[in-house]
Amino acid sequence: LAGYRAALQAGGEPSSASCSAVTLTILYGSQTGNAETLAEQLAEQARAQGLDVESLDMDEFPVRQLKKTERLALITSTHGEGDPPDNALGLHEYLHGRKAPKLGQLRYAVLSLGDSSYEYFCQTGVDFDQRLAALGAERMIDRADCDVDYEEAADQWMTQLLSTLKSETKSTAAVAPTPTASPSATAGHDRKHPFSAPLLDRVTLNGRGSSKAVHHLELSLEDSGLRYQPGDSLGVYVQNDPTLVARILEQTQLDGEQPVTLKDDSLTLHQALQHHLELTRLTPPTVQQWAKLSEASELQQLTNDKRGLIDWLHGRDLLDLLQEYPIGGLSAQTLVDHIRRLPPRLYSIASSQAAVDDEVHLTVAAVRYQQRERLREGVGSTWLADRLALDDTAPVFIDTNKNFRLPNDPNAPIVMIGPGTGVAPFRAFMQEREAEAHSGKNWLFFGDRNFRTDFLYQREWLQWRKQGLLSRLDVAFSRDGPDKVYVQHRIREAGAELWRWIEDGAHLYVCGDANAMAPDVHEALIDVVSTHGHKSRDSAEQYLRELTRSKRYQRDVY
Ligand code: 2AM
Repeated sequence: LAGYRAALQAGGEPSSASCSAVTLTILYGSQTGNAETLAEQLAEQARAQGLDVESLDMDEFPVRQLKKTERLALITSTHGEGDPPDNALGLHEYLHGRKAPKLGQLRYAVLSLGDSSYEYFCQTGVDFDQRLAALGAERMIDRADCDVDYEEAADQWMTQLLSTLKSETKSTAAVAPTPTASPSATAGHDRKHPFSAPLLDRVTLNGRGSSKAVHHLELSLEDSGLRYQPGDSLGVYVQNDPTLVARILEQTQLDGEQPVTLKDDSLTLHQALQHHLELTRLTPPTVQQWAKLSEASELQQLTNDKRGLIDWLHGRDLLDLLQEYPIGGLSAQTLVDHIRRLPPRLYSIASSQAAVDDEVHLTVAAVRYQQRERLREGVGSTWLADRLALDDTAPVFIDTNKNFRLPNDPNAPIVMIGPGTGVAPFRAFMQEREAEAHSGKNWLFFGDRNFRTDFLYQREWLQWRKQGLLSRLDVAFSRDGPDKVYVQHRIREAGAELWRWIEDGAHLYVCGDANAMAPDVHEALIDVVSTHGHKSRDSAEQYLRELTRSKRYQRDVY
């Protein structure tokens, strides 16, 4: 701090009374837009406090400027096995590389977003935090690692950061007057103010006898003022299954009508369980807290081994925990305090407003499986598939995804790889390109189990193919023949042609399963680039990294 004050003084007087001496640089690494939204909030509040603020996508920040930066707020999400979001790759690599600079002049704070059900929870934020410290930068406030229900923790972190910055700037004369009204007070709907969207229609996309249950839903956004782009997701506040809620009440012997408080709101235990708490997915922090509450030494032991704990959690839900490690005399409030909040579910939007106006369409696979003698259900997918009635409303908001966008150039060719429900955003892409008369060529790789029952939106794809809007369609039905055929097989088979498309400037899009499909497809793309582009594996990987950086290879995987 002393160093900072000295530097400020040496820097002389601020050039004008309306301009503060401190510039806060905000960098966000965001795949789906949450980190970006938080960055915008922070920027606005910091400006209101009289600070100069520059807020940038990490990709757009010239890394060499870091040496000259004095105050940095870094907000980033984490993906998959602890990976940075695409737009954070460059800075992450730079800071961990041999050319990383000494950053003795820098004071910083990190806000990290993640999902505590993953082993490498918030890893990218951890990386940045540790690396900046190792390079000599000084931490202004502790890093906050936020779970999927990040709002409260993020708010606290921002408040703390702003008050730290405020105490530093007090000594300088140039604090701008605080505006009397918040400039953010827009009337619109967002994550904190969802719109109640009536369900207009729902049809099952699979044919009779299918092993899957995928539903097409149409919701109305009429009078909401909400707009979305192809590539965006719809956030939905879903509800738990009432039967599961009843079983939890029965197991704990608690009365559902008892009042509890949740974030200063007073409601009944039943309401809290039904609407606000995550019952179907347990996370390590929840079990760790539970272990502290319960006397069970077996559970305490389990929580000491993170890998073992994650394996144990697989396929277990809150009811399993309550049954296996019951706590006598548990109060309703204690129960509520120890369960993670139910975060909204995000679904890739399957429509374009250029084609469907005030509607929004989703493609949702109902998740159901039998485990430990109980039928397990995905909370969001089964609520949308079964429990939400026609004309009832779902609380929704738009989750923008700037990292999954059609090319700016309407003539640019695109290649879409979307097996299963991963096909959803590509229906939106095609609707948009049709309605806006884009002339770029379009190629779809689709895969699912059986041709007869699982070719999602088959009629539409064949129609677009017939019209010529879809230039090429390659399908892989994995359970029709003796051998599994997946989209990556089709990608390799079509390698020569695919390479020509890429050379012609095609943008590549992958949507769907993140665990197996996306890495396998990535491998296939490396093969295509190295075989047909005559490159070593290393340079093929480098080539794809470059495509990612120039936003010509975009993924929306979950
Ligand atoms: P499977 O269920 O027969 O294994 C959509 O779910 C399609 O993706 C299904 O055909 C499914 O095949 C397939 N799939 C499963 N694993 C995959 C992988 N690693 N890569 C690509 N597709 C995969």
